[in-house]
Amino acid sequence: MTTTLSINTLTCEYKINPIGLDIKKPRISWKMQSNRRGTIQTAYRIQVTENDQDFTNMLWDTGEIHSDESIHIEYKGPELTSQTRYYYRVKVWDNFGDESEWSEIVWWETGIFNDEEWKAKWITPHPDEIDPLSEPAFLLRKEFKLKAPIRSARIYGTGVGLYELFINGDRVGTDLFSPGWTSYHKRLQYQTYDITGQLGEGNNAMGIMLADGWYKGNLSWENKRHIYGDRRAAYFQIHVKYEDGTEEIIPTDATWTASTGPILFSEIYQGEIYDARLEKEGWNKPGFNDKDWHETTVQDMPITHLVAQENWTTQVTEIIKPINTFVTPLGDTVLDMGQNMVGRVRFQVEAPKGTTIILKHAEVLDNEGNIYFGNLRKAHQEVKYIAKGEGIETFAPHFTFQGFRYVKVEGYPEQEKGLISENFVGEVIHSAMEPTGHFECSDPLINRLQQNIVWGQRGNFLDVPTDCPQRDERLGWTGDAQVFIQTALFNYHGGPFFTKWLRDLKAEQYPDGGVPFVIPTVVEGANAAAWSDAATIIPWEIYKIYGDKRLLSEQYESMKAWVEYMRRQGPDEYLWVVTFNFGDWLALDAPSGSYSGSTPKDFIATAFYAYSTRLLRDAAEVLQKEEDVEEYNSLLEKIIEQFNYEFVSPSGRLVSPTQTAHVLALIFDLVEGKVKERTAVELNELILQNDYHLTTGFVGTPYLCLALSKCGYHETAVKLLMQEGYPSWLYSVKKGATTIWEHWDGIKEDGSFWSDEMNSFNHYAYGAIGDWMYRVVAGLDLDNTAPAYKRIQIEPKFAGISLTYAKAIYDSMYGRIISSWCLTNEDIEIEVEIPANTTATVILPSTCLKNVRESGTSLNTTVGIHHSYEKEGNVILNVGSGCYSFKYPNEGRFSITFTEESRLVDILEYKEAKHILDQYAPGITNPPGIFAMKMKTLKELANFPEANLSTNTVNTLIEELNKIEWNLTPAH
Ligand code: BGC
Repeated sequence: MTTTLSINTLTCEYKINPIGLDIKKPRISWKMQSNRRGTIQTAYRIQVTENDQDFTNMLWDTGEIHSDESIHIEYKGPELTSQTRYYYRVKVWDNFGDESEWSEIVWWETGIFNDEEWKAKWITPHPDEIDPLSEPAFLLRKEFKLKAPIRSARIYGTGVGLYELFINGDRVGTDLFSPGWTSYHKRLQYQTYDITGQLGEGNNAMGIMLADGWYKGNLSWENKRHIYGDRRAAYFQIHVKYEDGTEEIIPTDATWTASTGPILFSEIYQGEIYDARLEKEGWNKPGFNDKDWHETTVQDMPITHLVAQENWTTQVTEIIKPINTFVTPLGDTVLDMGQNMVGRVRFQVEAPKGTTIILKHAEVLDNEGNIYFGNLRKAHQEVKYIAKGEGIETFAPHFTFQGFRYVKVEGYPEQEKGLISENFVGEVIHSAMEPTGHFECSDPLINRLQQNIVWGQRGNFLDVPTDCPQRDERLGWTGDAQVFIQTALFNYHGGPFFTKWLRDLKAEQYPDGGVPFVIPTVVEGANAAAWSDAATIIPWEIYKIYGDKRLLSEQYESMKAWVEYMRRQGPDEYLWVVTFNFGDWLALDAPSGSYSGSTPKDFIATAFYAYSTRLLRDAAEVLQKEEDVEEYNSLLEKIIEQFNYEFVSPSGRLVSPTQTAHVLALIFDLVEGKVKERTAVELNELILQNDYHLTTGFVGTPYLCLALSKCGYHETAVKLLMQEGYPSWLYSVKKGATTIWEHWDGIKEDGSFWSDEMNSFNHYAYGAIGDWMYRVVAGLDLDNTAPAYKRIQIEPKFAGISLTYAKAIYDSMYGRIISSWCLTNEDIEIEVEIPANTTATVILPSTCLKNVRESGTSLNTTVGIHHSYEKEGNVILNVGSGCYSFKYPNEGRFSITFTEESRLVDILEYKEAKHILDQYAPGITNPPGIFAMKMKTLKELANFPEANLSTNTVNTLIEELNKIEWNLTPAH
């Protein structure tokens, strides 16, 4: 076999070819590929050059470094300079003595390192000429002449408010909502764009559009405005390098002119008003006559808090077409996007001048089929467009986003004849994170749940991890982010996203270590158990998943300050008896009139105090802070001791009989031995007594199934997941949800709403179940002692016959990992993929060594298996990288009988399948006939791609369907 050893996906600070980095020692990572099993890197070599792709003038050449490290290798060459492109390439050697070719050449480019390099001035329209408080978006422009052909050009800069940039009439980049949302007074991101291709010798023009955004617009339910300031301003500089080596800077300054244009109003919650008649044709091109434009003025504002773009930028990531247009019983014309999405609608229209088109966005229809705006509270989500009447016009709003599935359209020409859906599309907008995970299984409803979780993440990861994307809130609630972090990091690459957010958290932390409820902080309030613990939990998760020790070290003092804050509260150092807490938010065991479940708040607070202390101790260990390890280890022991004294009876019963209390005690290792056993038994009992229904809220839900599976009650956990009756994860799926709801009963069984007051249909918290689906159901996990999946743990768990198939894919820092299993009456098959330069422990449940075949051969002849043994009825394998296909006889351990007739019928109610039913049985009236019809329809459903059924399920379905005697009663 000729070996192919290669490397790809080279990244610098998590990104491919990042521009404008202000990190002086950036870190390089790569992924290795090999067609040989058991490949480990034994050495690497990195070469870096400055502005030279031939690698002749080497800036840094590591030479051959003997190491298996391939992620976050810190640049250690000569000091980097600002505004410079560095090319790099990597080669590796492996344990078979093979040497790869050099990788492709990639680069990073530095931004601005020193404040003195900033030549721009903050500018804003002169207040005597344009009222700074007026609503219309500002237009700022400047024409300039470039004296010679240019070699390269960059623009660096930012704005307060939100901006869009134009050079010679064209938009610069595709980013939206720049400069993003940070703790603006402490940290303001600037952006860098390569505009070489957009400028030329001679006359050029630059234009800036500037709107309120998070900086100045309306934020929070408290109707706050001007939270960060009441003046919008822009701060940019173009840096041109001419062919002849000379340079020139064109900065924003008082020579720019200002005006307003078609955007009469634009705010995050409220929407946008755009009067196309006011467009200033050519305003951002050279030669435009701006003699009636106004002066700008220089605003005195600091730049010391500027930081280069850290997060992924915000982009349109998908375009979706409406699936339907209809008229509601109240007579509204409505578009149905088929998906509760976040972003905006783009439409085209040909209409007489002055025609006003209004789009009102909402998430759901009420039980009469009318569009429902109640849950938006004070957020209008309304876009108004006034046509200029010159042929076909296309429009999408600029500085606002909406959370919606339905759009009420008013004023569209001839809309009474029906809207033509081709004229409208939904543009999905969020931080352009790299997708990294995929989960699927044999149950289509669970697959829809997984999609809902992903959509919940997309909708709420628009630069900041928010609670919801639709009502007058959309804030970076710490609790919600903490609850969802593990699942989030499976679905998408969260490195840059949370690096930025954690730095804001640290910046907003109070001197006493207290952590605000929301980051960036725009509402009052701080220090709540399970909310403020985001300060410890998130840096730790980022470290675990990406091996990011640097961020962990950066956040360490913040983690410590939070733990010390809790320690100082109340009379007892080892208990956190708080005055205020959210408790188990929205739990179903809440006393009437309260949002907090009945698990005592000091129980929750002390449990999280222990958990945060544990994570702090672990972080201290990673960062080799020996004294702190000792200090916090002993603190942890005392908290646990005190927890037991306070919250566990002498005979081992928890004082609080709630599901959440039991979950926390188990998952945070607060109970041991017999008490632990009893707690686990009782948790299981609590679920059984409740007929496999949960009662947990934000605090207990993320760990509920995990605690059950970990303590030997995996079947109970799977039954909870597969529960379709209220309350359950699948309840909302069966109600047609396409995102995760804030409340288990957002829409009640009778179709009515929980309430107007707080009823988001896109709140990711309960989507936290995704972590357990990936890690436990599909069995794709990591060994906590080897972060970033350097050592992988594959351990599928089966639960009787309920699921016959599951698959998880995760693109780790080292490469792709797959864990997939499938049960048939005869065999158990487990397929695994392990990336090069990692190893894995694979646990094959319920078998023995001699029964297992790997790609048809016995285990002792299998290449790549370093060690194999049997333990507690399972086979344990230590394997190297590569793809493995294990198979062993089922021997009736997990028998598959097709008993779930009702489940089949349920599948039919699955939204997307409905129209097939209609096709087969239009207007069918007699109920027994419906059943037969449904069964026939299943045949079709089996091949219906949107239902997302695995091949395995499809085959089982068809097999079973063939056994059925058709009793088809015609509809008429
Ligand atoms: C948010 C939640 C948040 C909570 C605090 C709500 O308004 O939407 O998700 O965590 O307040 O309890």
